[in-house]
Amino acid sequence: MYHLQNDRRALARRVRRGSSKRQPPGCLFSNVTRSGARKRIAYRRLGGLQPAVCAAGAKTILETERLILREFLDSDYKDLCEILQDKDVMYAYEHPFTDDEVKSWYEKLIIGHYKKHGFGLWAVIHKETYEFLGQCGLTIQNLNGNEYLEIGYLFKKRHWHKGYAVEAALACKKYAFETLNAEKVYSIIRESNIASQNVAKRIGMKKTDEIIKHYNDIDIPHFIYEAKNCIATA
Ligand SMILES: CC(C)(COP(=O)(O)OP(=O)(O)OC[C@H]1O[C@@H](n2cnc3c(N)ncnc32)[C@H](O)[C@@H]1OP(=O)(O)O)[C@@H](O)C(=O)NCCC(=O)NCCS
Repeated sequence: MYHLQNDRRALARRVRRGSSKRQPPGCLFSNVTRSGARKRIAYRRLGGLQPAVCAAGAKTILETERLILREFLDSDYKDLCEILQDKDVMYAYEHPFTDDEVKSWYEKLIIGHYKKHGFGLWAVIHKETYEFLGQCGLTIQNLNGNEYLEIGYLFKKRHWHKGYAVEAALACKKYAFETLNAEKVYSIIRESNIASQNVAKRIGMKKTDEIIKHYNDIDIPHFIYEAKNCIATA
């Protein structure tokens, strides 16, 4: 099986060079951070979206029909807690996160990942209501000695069953293939997490392997879903 390890350096080089050089069609102004004038133009291109969505300093990565995926801001912390401390959302993780676990997720998996790789889990914002719906994005997962570029998604419970997760995950898959030039993307999903597997299937992933994850001293069977970049592997 091909793993990210194989072209890890090339990927890191591309990411270090910055996504602004090779922006995906949906990437509107990831290189605009300081200039107010350029920001105003970018807002207009978003159809006049409020700065709450394109909040100052927030780097917008992707746009879909209904959603904006942008980098997290400290002001999103309360929304993040709402997701990670909901026992139903965190079913696959065996427990709702403690305050310390949320802090660690935010600092390491979100902000730390942006710093290290240039991408990560992004905040999913509704374009019309400006509501924070969930998180979705790409992270590098180390598992049994292999590295996987994973599409991950966790949404607030009240925003399930509206197609947001599939819409956001599809945009992330496109970003992985078109911007990061990854050959494959994965989702590693608990065997019993049917909703999450449905998202993977709906974005064109196929189950290719099964592994055991050791989590909180428990062995939990997981399925590996993957999608190939047809252009890169043609
Ligand atoms: C995984 C998770 C994000 C999936 O959420 P979801 O609501 O099932 O997925 P979507 O947002 O894509 O919604 C799809 C559903 O919306 C329906 N839907 C309604 N309106 C829709 C629209 N306009 N477009 C597309 N689908 C729509 C679909 O028919 C589908 O229905 P179904 O759930 O009855 O099959 C959610 O269950 C979650 O956050 N789980 C907890 C976190 C987690 O386990 N993450 C994965 C870790 S590996």
